[in-house]
Amino acid sequence: MTSTTDAKDLAAIVNTSQGDYPIWVGWNIIEEIGERVHSILDTSTAYIITDEGAHRQARRAQFALEAAGIAAHMFIMPAGETHKTLETVQLVYRWLAERKAERGHLVVAVGGGVVGDLAGFCAATYLRGMPFAQVPTSLLAMMDAAIGGKVAVDLPQGKNLVGAFYQPKFVLSDVSALQTLPPRELTSGWAEAIKHGLILDRELLASFERDTGPIKALEPDIATDIIRRSVAIKANIVSQDERETLGIRILLNYGHTIGHAIESATGYGSFLHGEAVSVGMMGAAYIGEEIGLMSADEVERQRAVLADYDLPLTCGEMDIDAVTNAMLSDKKTAGRAIRWVMLDGIGNATTRNDIPPSLVRRTLERLAVD
Ligand SMILES: NC(=O)c1ccc[n+]([C@@H]2O[C@H](COP(=O)([O-])OP(=O)(O)OC[C@H]3O[C@@H](n4cnc5c(N)ncnc54)[C@H](O)[C@@H]3O)[C@@H](O)[C@H]2O)c1
Ligand SMILES: [Zn+2]
Repeated sequence: MTSTTDAKDLAAIVNTSQGDYPIWVGWNIIEEIGERVHSILDTSTAYIITDEGAHRQARRAQFALEAAGIAAHMFIMPAGETHKTLETVQLVYRWLAERKAERGHLVVAVGGGVVGDLAGFCAATYLRGMPFAQVPTSLLAMMDAAIGGKVAVDLPQGKNLVGAFYQPKFVLSDVSALQTLPPRELTSGWAEAIKHGLILDRELLASFERDTGPIKALEPDIATDIIRRSVAIKANIVSQDERETLGIRILLNYGHTIGHAIESATGYGSFLHGEAVSVGMMGAAYIGEEIGLMSADEVERQRAVLADYDLPLTCGEMDIDAVTNAMLSDKKTAGRAIRWVMLDGIGNATTRNDIPPSLVRRTLERLAVD
């Protein structure tokens, strides 16, 4: 029952052990969510989970579902990472129970990564699993959080400590929703999108360089096209390496070793994720240049495109020891040599675990300026 519109919007089919599912990226396609649900599963009822920032987009989904004959309830959580907790999960469980949610009903996340992660966790666990759809409304969620089936909530002891791999039935990204996203969140999201070009796709990077103005202004055709192409890269990586066991998915972590450490060392208060990743990508590029993987021209090309999208290239004065400690205690690297994702030229990512600590320190010093 796939219509031609669906085919046009299709960014990728994600292949996973829990089944294959489409990612659609289009303009004003939230209005089509009802038909798209019908094309994938047979359900009478949807439970939309959203937050205060995204709830206008969630209303669009609610109207569209109701118009297609699907009863659509809505839970609006407070916005922000501080609410991605088991306490909120419990409120959602109670809300689902009061409405007598059944295993055949659909949970729909409409929002940024916080909503997607939390709603996905609820869907994975309530009644031992309900069908789930992702409608990401932040650029970061479209690029990253909504793709790949990682769902989680935070504990006081750390981020994303409780979670699961739980794949959605579909991902529907309506680029028009980004028009209401706060500008800084949009800017931050471009970092991950550009990253996909840097690690794997020179043509994508060239499009980012060429169409900067229309992309930043969310000109419908051009912005939708570039987001669809960038999303396809993450989707294809996830299809190849669903559970991060083959060393492919790790390539998405370009810029994240330093980026995560900066976020952690600053208590997640100063930098949005994409901003920290942008600085981290500059760090990785400087290291790459010193060990002969990247030319000065390539580093400059990366710098210029990040700057054109108003992304930070340095992190300002920073406690280098704190950043270093955060890097070493990262849950993915603890006890082992850090596995750095580096560019072996633009569009070609690789990994290295032999970067000397002294070089890392020098690089951090280079980044810790205004
Ligand atoms: N599961 C994964 O693989 C994965 C990957 C990356 C990040 N994440 C998670 O994603 C979260 C960050 O996601 P995020 O950057 O989207 O943050 P977020 O969900 O907090 O959204 C950012 C802000 O934008 C608002 N918002 C979202 N869409 C909007 C819209 N269309 N109009 C107006 N406001 C809107 C939200 O209300 C929020 O205030 C983190 O919790 C992170 O751990 C998960
Ligand atoms: Zn990221």
